Amino acid sequence: MRIGPHLLENRLLLAPMAGVSDRPFRQICRQLGAAMTVSEMVSADTTLWGTRKSLRRLDFRGEPGPVSVQILGAEPRKMAEAARINADLGARIIDINMGCPAKKVCRVAAILHEHLQHLHAFHGARHGVRVARKHIAWYSRRYPGGATFRKAINQTDCARRQLEIVKDFFQQLTERELAA
Ligand SMILES: Cc1cc2nc3c(=O)[nH]c(=O)nc-3n(C[C@H](O)[C@H](O)[C@H](O)COP(=O)(O)O)c2cc1C
Repeated sequence: MRIGPHLLENRLLLAPMAGVSDRPFRQICRQLGAAMTVSEMVSADTTLWGTRKSLRRLDFRGEPGPVSVQILGAEPRKMAEAARINADLGARIIDINMGCPAKKVCRVAAILHEHLQHLHAFHGARHGVRVARKHIAWYSRRYPGGATFRKAINQTDCARRQLEIVKDFFQQLTERELAA
C-alpha cells in the first residue's frame, strides 16, 4: 500500500481512536505488525495545546515512520498551521477528522441544527430566528461560554447567521472537550 511517497510494508493500519491510540498503544500495534498507526486527534486550535493531554498527543518521539497525525478543525488556515507544526514535530501524514469524536456534544449540535432549520421554515426566516432564540438558550444552558454565545445569538436577525453562530459554538465546544 502506498500513501503519497510512503510505501507501507503491509495493509495493516491502526485507525485513529480518541482515548485509545495513544503512543504506548501505537507502539504495541507496530510491534505486533501494523505498518502504520494514526495518533489520537489533536485540535487544529493551537491555543488549546497547553494541556498535559494535548502535549502527550503531540509526542511522537521514537516512533517508527511514517508518523500520521489526526487533526480536528473547521478553519482551513488553523488546520494548515496545525499541520505545519505537527510536520515540524515529526508527522509525515496528516489525517483530517471528518466525523465527530465528542459524541454527546455532536448529537446535541446535530439535533439543534435540524430543529433550527425546521423553525426557520415553519415560522418564516424573520420570525423563526426570534422563536429559535429561546430554544437555543435551552440547548446551550449547560455548556461553558453559553452566556456570551446567547448574547451573540440575540444580536442577529439573520437565519443563516444564527445557524453559523450555533455551528461555531458547538465546534469550539468539541475542540475544548478534546483538549481538556
Ligand atoms: C473507541 C473509538 C474511538 C474512535 N475515535 C476516532 C477518532 O478520534 N477519529 C476518527 O477518525 N475515527 C475514530 N474512530 C473510528 C475508527 O478510526 C475506525 O474508523 C472505525 O472503528 C471503523 O474501523 P473498523 O471497521 O476497523 O472498526 C474511533 C473508533 C473507536 C472504536
